[in-house]
Amino acid sequence: MQKSRYLMIAGVAALGLIGSAGLVSGHGGATGIVKERMDLMVSVGKAMKTITDMIQGETEFDAETLRESANFIAAHGGEQMSRLFPEDSIEGPSEALPAIWQDWERFSALAEDLRVFAGALAQAADNPRGGNMHGNRGNSPIGMSSGDSPMTRGNPMMGSNPMMGGNRMMGGGQSPMDDPDALANMPPEAAFARVAQTCSACHTEFRKKQ
Ligand code: HEC
Repeated sequence: MQKSRYLMIAGVAALGLIGSAGLVSGHGGATGIVKERMDLMVSVGKAMKTITDMIQGETEFDAETLRESANFIAAHGGEQMSRLFPEDSIEGPSEALPAIWQDWERFSALAEDLRVFAGALAQAADNPRGGNMHGNRGNSPIGMSSGDSPMTRGNPMMGSNPMMGGNRMMGGGQSPMDDPDALANMPPEAAFARVAQTCSACHTEFRKKQ
């Protein structure tokens, strides 16, 4: 009697496991908030791929598509991203590192950077393209080290911006690459590079290496 009751309970528990396994998608058993943020990252990754392909000339450049994709990323950065990382939420297949909660300030600043720079990219969608981008995979598409680009120097749009005093970045945005208002007025490649840099900075510090 006793034994069969245990068996039944075990059976029900097993069914429960199977049932919830049926709900998970491609993330090898992720559930709850972990699944939610993995799904968010995947959708952000898709938007980023759409933009990357256009910037690199693999698909036709379309400012509207760029703007929509960048706005999508912006809308999923900042709070929308960091709120999906409640303290110590590393379960199942999560690739999140505990460092996230040891340096929450840095982590949430990177999430905020993503929001801000993706927003700048959306604003830059209609700007003239930067030249010579194709096949420049992996490097900064601009090939510039911050402030000394001919593209930024002497650009009247780029001069002393009164907004820069209230810059969101630590250190006051010495580099135009750290200044969303400057990026919004540059070729979209500039803000794109900054967004890509933000993704990889956060992954380098806070995501397990594959
Ligand atoms: C603030 C930090 C941060 C930023 C910014 C960030 N990510 Fe992530 N990303 C993570 C973390 C942490 C994980 C691992 C989450 C987990 O497994 O719990 C991750 C996971 C991913 C994954 C794997 C999802 C999966 O489960 O298959 C992709 C794809 C991804 N990110 C793409 C991007 C792209 C593209 C950008 C930039 C547009 C970006 N991320 C920006 C922190 C970040």
